[in-house]
Amino acid sequence: MADKFYLTTPIYYVNARPHIGTTYTTVVADVIARRKRALGVDTFFLTGTDEHGQKIQRSAEKAGCSPQEFTDGVAAQFRALWDRLGLTYDDFIRTTEPRHKRGVQKLFALLKERGYIYKGSYTGQYCVSDEAFVDVPPGAPCPECGRITETISEENYFFKLSAFERTLLEFYDAHPEFIRPETRRNEVISFVKAGLKDLSVSRTSIQWGIPVPGDEKHVIYVWMDALVNYITAIGYGSDDPKDIARFEKYWPADLHIVGKEITRFHCVYWPAFLMAAGLPLPKSVVAHGWLLFEESKMSKSRGNIVRAETILDVLGADALRYFLLREVVFGQDGSFSFDALVQRYNSDLANGYGNLVSRTLTMIGKYFDGVVPEFPTTDSLIEQNATETVTGFGHAFEGYAFSKGLEVVWDLIANVDGFLTAHAPWKEPEGISADTLRQQRAMILYTAAEAIRIITALIYPVIPDAAAKVWSQLGLGDIHKADLKNIAWGGLRPGTKLGELGPVFPRAEKDAISRMKEIEEKNNPSVPAQDETQPVPGVRAVPLAPKAGTIAAPATPTTKESRTSRLHAALDGLAVAIAESTNETAAVVAVENFVKDNLGSGSQAAAAPSAPAPAEVGDKITIDDFAKVELRVAQIKVAERVPKADKLLRLEVDLGYEQRQILAGIAEAYTPEQLIGRKIVIVANLAPRKLRGLESNGMLLAASLEGGKPVLAGFLEDVEVGARLK
Ligand code: MSP
Repeated sequence: MADKFYLTTPIYYVNARPHIGTTYTTVVADVIARRKRALGVDTFFLTGTDEHGQKIQRSAEKAGCSPQEFTDGVAAQFRALWDRLGLTYDDFIRTTEPRHKRGVQKLFALLKERGYIYKGSYTGQYCVSDEAFVDVPPGAPCPECGRITETISEENYFFKLSAFERTLLEFYDAHPEFIRPETRRNEVISFVKAGLKDLSVSRTSIQWGIPVPGDEKHVIYVWMDALVNYITAIGYGSDDPKDIARFEKYWPADLHIVGKEITRFHCVYWPAFLMAAGLPLPKSVVAHGWLLFEESKMSKSRGNIVRAETILDVLGADALRYFLLREVVFGQDGSFSFDALVQRYNSDLANGYGNLVSRTLTMIGKYFDGVVPEFPTTDSLIEQNATETVTGFGHAFEGYAFSKGLEVVWDLIANVDGFLTAHAPWKEPEGISADTLRQQRAMILYTAAEAIRIITALIYPVIPDAAAKVWSQLGLGDIHKADLKNIAWGGLRPGTKLGELGPVFPRAEKDAISRMKEIEEKNNPSVPAQDETQPVPGVRAVPLAPKAGTIAAPATPTTKESRTSRLHAALDGLAVAIAESTNETAAVVAVENFVKDNLGSGSQAAAAPSAPAPAEVGDKITIDDFAKVELRVAQIKVAERVPKADKLLRLEVDLGYEQRQILAGIAEAYTPEQLIGRKIVIVANLAPRKLRGLESNGMLLAASLEGGKPVLAGFLEDVEVGARLK
């Protein structure tokens, strides 16, 4: 086993307070860090905040304070929440810290000295929200987030990314484990194969950033600044021998955990910067999916966030941690709902683990005065099951299959519970001697208690607070100091005096769901109008607009940006409505409603009195409105039916720059065979949705005929895959 493990989360933008979407990445990292430590590995877990860039500068301006005051406030909120969640990060880096600035400038100077950074001029479309140049025409929306891009023309420093095309491809080839899962790896490889342009790595139009050494009117590109945190936090750029030693010990990182939308930055730019600097490359980048709420990515700008604090107040940190790891299949998108959370809490934690612990330990209290009994033998089936669980759980966790690993443990919990019920140690069968009864009870209760010890050691990284309570109730002391490496069967010593017993997971109150919803409503009644800014302590609050709704929800969007996100949400809703329509008329009605509610004269957009914008011109839409919808040519590579869904087909379509999955309600009009190879038109910038448990990334266009079957839009001439329809 490796003697050290260095893992990182992305550093979080401080233009918005944390929510359970951002919490997700950090909780997963914490679980991995805790498990590594439990296995005796010297682990370093880094997280932090990304505090520079135009987005933050603008948020601070709107909040009426300096960027530093603004970032101090939000960074403190992140730390406070991470601490409440029991996250065991070893360091928290802020990109505004001197140690970081020093390291970034050192790397920039080194790359310049080595000839990888040069000065040039550039005009392009910049997406402020994603802090990235994007390849779209002026005024067009960002393909990633749908927000309108800005034309930026500047004299900049450039990084010779183009020089690394071949080296990167060779590296991916030689290190298949570098990017996981496979889908992300394929996306990254296609992106690099499509050709790499040199990257602009400085800006003169903003001040809030790290100055380019020796040319201070430029600040360093925020993504270059941010990525370098992974080395500055462990000492890069410092002359202090202790820092140098730490850097040498922990670099390269063993694992960067990232959300799927930022794999390109971590798997293309970051390794290229490191190669240019002559530094070793991280061993792996693992991308997870998104936490969806109300069926789209949870984010402030969509107005669909849930704050972690609400769940902590009502159910506690372990409930949230367990839900995130168990309910979301790592790597895929997963949905959050209060109902699902409470359901998991009650069935798995209160009735499952909590109940098993309580009944076993109470009986040891009653029949053996609270002392683990001497046992003649243990149940061989449970023993075997526990041993297999240790192995199965280990394999699952090594492969980031957290949900699977927990499922295996909960199977064991159910088996031990069934074993107790079947043997009913509380019964006193007639004709059995007191001695035999005691022996039988000892066997049953020792078996159950030993299984609980093993279960608790395994799930400690996921639900540390509950595991600590149970460990001490088992009489084993402080789990945080325990050696959890060796948890072979039989480790619980007879004669161990149980600790004080008490409930571990009391059942959730009946009104838990409504309480959480109420707290959320109270704390988060609306979405910020222009960006993701939330009031920060000591900072003037920004005006707020109403929460984004579904297709038909009445609302009063006040800005172009909030209308964009509303249009996204509405398009999402339309995609689902069409896919789930039981007949064509229903689909047509859904489209008509969409037009009426979002684009027509009676629309929400037209109803906005305070923001005269192109969308509000009578019953017509403007070219700007149309430009928000990214229509592209895609080619169908895979088509198959979705089990138990008569109308749905699962398609994998190629867009040239990426391959994605789309679910379409066209199964009654086309067979899968008819579709393979066909070029179609899709709405490429729809937020992903889940239909029948499958993620749909976009929507295809088809004519909807009254009483007839849908007819796919297509072309008479051959067109290039990925081409945009304008
Ligand atoms: N600052 C950059 C990262 C720089 S790393 C050198 C950034 N920040 S972020 O705040 O927008 O996102 C940070 C992480 O939070 C990402 O991994 C992102 O995927 C994750 N999440 C934000 N919302 C999320 C969900 N709704 N669901 C799951 N993760 C999400 O990108």
